[in-house]
Amino acid sequence: MVSLYERIGGKSKIIPAVDIFYRKVLADESLKQFFEPVDMDQLRSLQAMFLTMLVGAKMKYTGKDIRTAHAGLKGKGLNDEHFDAFLKHFKNALQEVGIEHEAVAEIIGRLEGTRAEVLGR
Ligand code: HEM
Repeated sequence: MVSLYERIGGKSKIIPAVDIFYRKVLADESLKQFFEPVDMDQLRSLQAMFLTMLVGAKMKYTGKDIRTAHAGLKGKGLNDEHFDAFLKHFKNALQEVGIEHEAVAEIIGRLEGTRAEVLGR
C-alpha cells in the first residue's frame, strides 16, 4: 500500500509546506508571541521530522514528545483558539504546496489528535 508520505510527494512537499506554515504563524499576531524566544531553524527541522513520522514514513522522530515540548506554553496562555489558528495555517500551507484535498484532511485530522497533549490536559 502506498503510504500517505508517498501520496503527498514526500520531502519535496513537506519541507516547503513547513516553511510556508511558519511564515504564516510568525505573521499571525495571536501566535507570534509564543515563537519569539525560539530557534526557528531548529523548530522547522523538528516539525518537518514530526510531520514525516505523522504521515507514515519510516523515520524516527528524535524531538521531545509533544506534551513535554509544549508544557511551558500553558503559563503563557496557550488555548484552543491558538490551536485552531495553528491548524488553519497548517491546512493552508499544505494546500499551497499542492497537496490534494483528501490528503490534507487526513493530515489535519492526525494533527488534531495532538490537541490535548499540546494544550496540556
Ligand atoms: C498540531 C499541533 C502541534 C504539533 C504537531 C507541534 C509540534 C512541535 C514540535 C515537533 C516541536 C519541537 C519539539 C522539540 O523541541 O523537540 C514543537 C515545539 C514548539 N511548539 Fe509546537 N506543535 C503543535 C502546536 C503548537 C501550538 C498551537 C503552538 C503555539 C501557538 C506551538 C508552539 C511551539 C513552540 C513555541 C515550540 C518550541 C518550544 C521550545 O523550544 O521550548 N506548537 N512543536
